[in-house]
Amino acid sequence: MMHHIYHEGKEGKPVLLLLHGTGGTEQDLLPIADMIDPEASVLSVRGNVSENGMPRFFKRLREGVFDIEDLKFRTQELNEFLGDTAHKYQFDRSNVIAIGYSNGANIAGSLLFNYSDSLKAAILHHPMVPLRDHELPSLSGTKVFIGAGENDPICPASETEDLDELLKGAGADVTVKWYNRGHQLIEEEVNDAKQWYSTL
Ligand code: MLT
Repeated sequence: MMHHIYHEGKEGKPVLLLLHGTGGTEQDLLPIADMIDPEASVLSVRGNVSENGMPRFFKRLREGVFDIEDLKFRTQELNEFLGDTAHKYQFDRSNVIAIGYSNGANIAGSLLFNYSDSLKAAILHHPMVPLRDHELPSLSGTKVFIGAGENDPICPASETEDLDELLKGAGADVTVKWYNRGHQLIEEEVNDAKQWYSTL
C-alpha cells in the first residue's frame, strides 16, 4: 500500500503518475500536473521510505549513492501498486505517464529500466541513472522527456548523458532539454515538458 491521491480526469485521457523529490509529499506536483494536462487523471504517490522524516521512494547510502536492493524492491512495489490501483480505480494501466522530480524521477527511471510496459511515457525532471551494469528491457514505443540543469550539483551532466544513451539503446524515444540552472525545477522546464506532452 502506498499513500496517494487519485483524481479521475476525462475519459480516455492518460493517468499522470506524480512522483515527488526527497522530503516532498503527494501534494507537491499537483500544480505541475495541472499545467501539463488539466484534463488527465492524476495518481500522486508518497514515497514509502523515510530518511530522517523525509519521504523518499527508495533508500540511499548517501547523497547520489543508492541502496540498490531497496531500489529494486521499491520499484517492484510501485509497479504492483500501479496494477492494484488501476484495478481499484478502473483506469487503463497501459496509459500511465510518469512525472517525476529528482528522487521521484529516479524511481520512474527505475520503472523504465526494469519493466518494458510499466509506463507509456515519462517526464523526468533532473534524473540520475538509477542502475548501472543493468540490462534494460525493450523500450521501443516509450517516450521520455528529460529536463537537466547544466550546473546541477546533484546530477552531473554525465548522468543525464548516460541516461539518455541507455534509454535510447533500449529503443526509447528520448528528448533532453538543458537549462542554465542547478537542481531546481523551473517554469521554463515545465513549459517545455508541456509542449513535448502535447505531441504524444
Ligand atoms: C536521489 O537520492 O534520488 C537523488 O540524489 C536525488 C535526491 O536528492 O533526491
